[in-house]
Amino acid sequence: MSDLPEHVARNREVWDAWAETYVADGEASWARSEPSWGIWGIPEAEVGMLDGDLAGKDAIELGCGTAYVSAWLARRGARVVGIDNSAAQLDTARRLQVRHGVDFPLLHGNAEAVPYPDASFDFAISEYGACLWADPARWLPEAARLLRPGGRLVFLTNAFLLTLCMPDEDGASAGERLLRPAFGSTRVEWTSDRSVEFHLSHGGWIRALRGSGFEVEDLIELQPPADARTRYPFVKLEWARQWPCEEVWKARKRA
Ligand SMILES: C[S@@+](CC[C@H](N)C(=O)[O-])C[C@H]1O[C@@H](n2cnc3c(N)ncnc32)[C@H](O)[C@@H]1O
Repeated sequence: MSDLPEHVARNREVWDAWAETYVADGEASWARSEPSWGIWGIPEAEVGMLDGDLAGKDAIELGCGTAYVSAWLARRGARVVGIDNSAAQLDTARRLQVRHGVDFPLLHGNAEAVPYPDASFDFAISEYGACLWADPARWLPEAARLLRPGGRLVFLTNAFLLTLCMPDEDGASAGERLLRPAFGSTRVEWTSDRSVEFHLSHGGWIRALRGSGFEVEDLIELQPPADARTRYPFVKLEWARQWPCEEVWKARKRA
């Protein structure tokens, strides 16, 4: 029997099965020299996920998937480590490391319990990784433990409003009605698959971040440009032009 928390074991099974549908995205993103973010590919210049000089810094990507974000960090001179819960996603990451001649440690594990000592990193990042699929009550304190005082945590996840408007049907996209309560559990299970996600209100994120030892520095609600495209069906451009479907949180570990 696995000693993983139940949601981590479930998400491992789901992501091992989904991995092959993320290969093409991984290949395209590894080939890109300039980072772009989220499902609409918003340029780094507009989001500033990697703000600051990362050269020589110790960085970790929490839920790295095919590890293209880690590759962007490595190319900027960071000493980066990627951790992911899915062996199949990491197989793609390792293949792309060889293809691009960029090498860094890739760990198969749960970002809620990372096998590194306290204060090992200056920078932690997650794009739709642990920040969506891991329990914030576990992964945020773990990120704080891993960071040095003054270290930065940046993550991109679904906007809370999108989750509230999301029908629980396979292939559906967000509508213009609130379909689920804002109060209650942060854990969301969709009936169409066995995955488990975590969605917090803005107040919830602020309290969880501050309670884990972070100061919140920014919250950026992303708006795609009028000609943006995405392969993901869960939100239409017309919706995302009017309401935020993705948000970026920037926080700093208290010194
Ligand atoms: C959407 S991918 C994120 C990678 C990439 N930025 C992207 O957007 O494709 C989500 C990844 O989070 C990983 N993941 C889910 N739960 C995790 C956990 N508890 N610890 C580490 N990784 C986790 C999954 O295995 C999956 O590879």
